[in-house]
Amino acid sequence: MSVTDSYDAVQIIRLKRDGHEVPAAAIGWLVDGFTAGRVTDAQMSAFAMAVVLRGCSRDEVHALTAAMTASGRRMNLSALGRPTVDKHSTGGIGDKITLPLAPLIASFGIAVPQLSGRGLGYTGGTLDKLESIPGWRADLSPAELTAQLRTVGAVVCAPGPDLAPADRRLYALRDETGTVESIPLIAASIMSKKIAEGADALVLDVKFGSGALIPPPEQARELARVMVELGADAGLETTVLLTDMDTPLGRTIGNANEVREAEEVLAGGGPADVIELTLALGREMAAAAGRPDLDLDAALSDGRAMDTWRAMIRAQGGDPDAPLPSARETHTITATRDGYLVRTDALAFGIAAWRLGAGRTRQTDPVAHAAGIDLHAVRGEWVTAGTPLFTLSSDDETRIPRALAALDGGWEIADAAPVVSPRVRERITA
Ligand code: URA
Repeated sequence: MSVTDSYDAVQIIRLKRDGHEVPAAAIGWLVDGFTAGRVTDAQMSAFAMAVVLRGCSRDEVHALTAAMTASGRRMNLSALGRPTVDKHSTGGIGDKITLPLAPLIASFGIAVPQLSGRGLGYTGGTLDKLESIPGWRADLSPAELTAQLRTVGAVVCAPGPDLAPADRRLYALRDETGTVESIPLIAASIMSKKIAEGADALVLDVKFGSGALIPPPEQARELARVMVELGADAGLETTVLLTDMDTPLGRTIGNANEVREAEEVLAGGGPADVIELTLALGREMAAAAGRPDLDLDAALSDGRAMDTWRAMIRAQGGDPDAPLPSARETHTITATRDGYLVRTDALAFGIAAWRLGAGRTRQTDPVAHAAGIDLHAVRGEWVTAGTPLFTLSSDDETRIPRALAALDGGWEIADAAPVVSPRVRERITA
């Protein structure tokens, strides 16, 4: 069958379903039709499932990404007159790196346009975290975004409705149809938005491990390679760090508590792994902006990054000095014996924080900003019987038993110290 003369959604679905190559023009037609409402949600979902089962060739994923990018507005940041670098993470448990990283890089005069999302399921969303700051707002007009990039240098905000709208609609369908976990669909989804954002360069943090979207390292590496290629095809210089998400990042999981931890990093402190990843991604961003020699540590310890953070929060209506919300109920788990904390499973902790109210089930659900988990000890540390290990916080005490059930078997104390490897395992470029 040929679809080159006249296209038909059912024929395209059949082609993919039966393992044939779908011509680029047919993919473009399908995405355009979906955006315009001529291709139905059912047809697009069926196509997504066929992609999950059959995968995509390089040309197909390229065509899908190009069509989704072209479904909306493409931002042009060249008028800013300074380098623009974007960062994106495939998501994890306790991943608050954008919060210290965006102001850190902006404090050197590099513009950081950070269009971010809200969390779904057990992975947190950067906007949810920032919305725990009283007054802070995520929705900016294109003019406000550009103005803030000029004055402050860093913006973290929601993408407008006209940025890759095909991806927005397809992602909602994928969420309802078990079609999220697909390397070509994830790659096209992320890269269409990032290409449309119009930055000069992109640094990606692709996670592997139990709390990652794609847990097996070899598949996470494949996702990284596909995204690097898509970036190169679109003229967007893309670098990936492949990082470990088997154990929560830092000592907080939630929203307000993650903001608190990000502020510790901006004040020159904070957990070692959060600092490691902030600096590693920051060095990549600096190099991508042509400034590989920047002294990032100095900007964290001398208050420059903190000043930019405060300006960034104020510019979006937030009060950086306002107290962050705290939860009505807490429950602390203590060490059952002396030993090394050898395992804190990211997935178990993510599910527990979600059950406490830190995450949402549907895109429209609210999150409880004060809910979450504080880790008083992290993997590799020696603990003694009876000392506090993890504090669970929620506004609703009935949520605590289900969170405790998620943590059951999710952590372990043993006699021998575990090998604690660095978070960053690999660097992938074109
Ligand atoms: N994040 C996205 O933006 N898209 C996906 O498909 C998965 C994670």
